[in-house]
Amino acid sequence: MIAHPDPWRNIDGQAKPAQMAQSLEVRGRTPSQVRLRRRFLRFVPVRAGQRVLEVGCGSGVVVRDLATLVGPRGEVVGVDPSRSMVDAARALARAHALRGRMRWRVASGASLPFASGRFDAALAITVLLHVADPEAVVREMARVTRPGGRVGVQDQDFGTVVVTHPDRTLTERILWGVASHMYEEPHSGRRLPALLRTVGLEDVRLLTDVFQDTTLEPFAKTFLERRAANAVTFGIVDAPAAQRWLDGLTGLVARGDFVLTFNYYGAVGVKPAAASRRR
Ligand SMILES: C[S@@+](CC[C@H](N)C(=O)[O-])C[C@H]1O[C@@H](n2cnc3c(N)ncnc32)[C@H](O)[C@@H]1O
Repeated sequence: MIAHPDPWRNIDGQAKPAQMAQSLEVRGRTPSQVRLRRRFLRFVPVRAGQRVLEVGCGSGVVVRDLATLVGPRGEVVGVDPSRSMVDAARALARAHALRGRMRWRVASGASLPFASGRFDAALAITVLLHVADPEAVVREMARVTRPGGRVGVQDQDFGTVVVTHPDRTLTERILWGVASHMYEEPHSGRRLPALLRTVGLEDVRLLTDVFQDTTLEPFAKTFLERRAANAVTFGIVDAPAAQRWLDGLTGLVARGDFVLTFNYYGAVGVKPAAASRRR
């Protein structure tokens, strides 16, 4: 069977799952990422005492933030299909004062091992972009949310990547070429409000946020280096062209002229009271 080009689809089938957990931690502590993640959690909003589910929890960056928000009377459950991610998340959570309020399960978002209506909120942060059937996942999230509770999803949109580079044509070929090869729907972010409405959620609101970097910090550097490597793997450019492209970026950084931005879209919907009776 040919492996799917998106490694986040099957982390445990990759050569270095621990490195992938590490990359989520690096992204998680990048200041612009901290800001846009927490801004989204306030937008949902998540409140003290709530029971919250995070689908596709990875190394637990969001679960740890959620535990702080729900506090000692709340509960957060992190679910991920990758056993190695869940193990890493559990280990990383040990240093958190509210680790006793966190639970972890290995499961796919398309088949959640919870009773209907168990949670006040169900969230998926930078997950739907990677799944084969996002609608099935959001439908499950809505099922396990109580009537009146919230379903919140946040995703990058790779149709919005902006980067300074002297070679615009090569930049476009690499960035769009890789994104369209790797993801079923590279425009995942902008489609989230429609997705929530499709599964019957109401009062859908949208929060658009922008990731910004001007120094090629570690998260952005890894992101762009992976794009260049994948462009070679997918046959979009040859290795010298990919290297030339990376060199062009580092030249801009040296001159202080580097800019990388891309949009994150966060959508939140409310589960209607009638939905539970209709099922
Ligand atoms: C980019 S990571 C995001 C992790 C975390 N939400 C964060 O923001 O740090 C994507 C996660 O989605 C998980 N994932 C992939 N397919 C999934 C599915 N069908 N259901 C639930 N999670 C899935 C992956 O295992 C991975 O941990």
